[in-house]
Amino acid sequence: MKILVTGGAGFIGSSFVRYVLRARKDVDVVNFDLLTYAGNLRNVEEAASNPRYRFVKGDIADREHVEKVFADHRFDAVVNFAAETHVDRSILDSAPFVRTNIEGTRCLLEEARRHKAGKFVQISTDEVYGTLGPTGSFREDSPLGPTSPYSASKAAADLLVHAYFKTHRVPAVITRCSNNYGPFQFPEKLIPVLITNAMDDRPLPIYGDGLNVREWIFADEHSRAVLTALERGTPGQVYNIGSGHETTNLEVVREVLRLLGKPESLIQFVTDRPGHDRRYSIDCSKIRREWSWSPEIDFATGLAATIDWYRTHQDWIRDIKDSSYLSYYDRMYTRRDHTLHSL
Ligand code: NAD
Ligand code: DAU
Repeated sequence: MKILVTGGAGFIGSSFVRYVLRARKDVDVVNFDLLTYAGNLRNVEEAASNPRYRFVKGDIADREHVEKVFADHRFDAVVNFAAETHVDRSILDSAPFVRTNIEGTRCLLEEARRHKAGKFVQISTDEVYGTLGPTGSFREDSPLGPTSPYSASKAAADLLVHAYFKTHRVPAVITRCSNNYGPFQFPEKLIPVLITNAMDDRPLPIYGDGLNVREWIFADEHSRAVLTALERGTPGQVYNIGSGHETTNLEVVREVLRLLGKPESLIQFVTDRPGHDRRYSIDCSKIRREWSWSPEIDFATGLAATIDWYRTHQDWIRDIKDSSYLSYYDRMYTRRDHTLHSL
């Protein structure tokens, strides 16, 4: 079996590439990734020497290139992780989000259809459902209500995937997962920002009152569920993926500081993210019921392992901070009056 994995040099895509090559000895992987600021070949170093792995640098929104890749390989399945993924960046500039997340997904669907490339797994997010009050959880049949340019672009992609299933019979499934954390996550997202800043005794920026709630899942758990979706998902279906572990951002920051032995005085409350979703919570009873899937790594274990990884991979962090990321990082996080619109 040969699968096309897009965005396989990013945080979760690389976890999936490493996982599938280890877990399935009869699977070949072609990793198609543009290597944007978030893509890093060091994330897939483990796979580089594997004869069942191949890397192709390219843009999922470049139709000609996508067409060539489908023509060069006979794919049995496609797993689309490639995306612009950071909500704050989508507030500053939504254009790359529309291009990659919507147009890119359309290009892949078109070529998957023309080349009869088998199962198409669209990696979506719980953010397409919008935001919750203090109670309740998103189910697969909850209405879509995205609030940021990022989540709107992901919801648009989900609708396209559904349309290609209905109209062109592309055997597609959609997975919607909650917040991921773990090794190799780019230090613009909450948990790696907290860890890398705290290690350097820099302030930890907390948006608003810090009481927004996220449901945290270790990325390798997400990968395990995505492989199950690929192998067992029913075309046309949506599958929620989550851990059940909900915490406020303040609880997360306090735990990171405790594990690193750093003082709470490093916490710095900053201006809130515009349109900041208050709470996400995922009902994943469907995959528990249909696939007997359940999370295996609890938050305490996963967070300790993640901190340990960042502690022992200073060179990985240094490489990123030496790259184009630095100017964004400095503008974004060293201001006392953190205001997205004044950047
Ligand atoms: P990431 O930002 O770490 O990586 C994205 C990858 O996509 C990078 O390697 C980048 O180079 C690549 N890419 C971007 N634009 C591309 C393009 N036009 N063509 C080809 N490659 C391109 O993202 P992530 O956090 O690993 O997220 C992966 C997927 O999972 C995304 O679709 C995201 O929406 C979804 N998701 C993420 C989370 C989370 O908590 N991070 C949760 C649920 C769903
Ligand atoms: O829920 C799934 C989504 O999770 C994915 O689809 C997105 O790709 C991913 O980026 C993530 O989105 P969030 O906006 O929830 O993640 P982020 O890490 O940016 O923020 C998590 C929470 O922490 C959120 O309430 C905002 C807050 N935050 C974030 C940062 C970066 C802070 O308080 N301070 C920060 O510096």
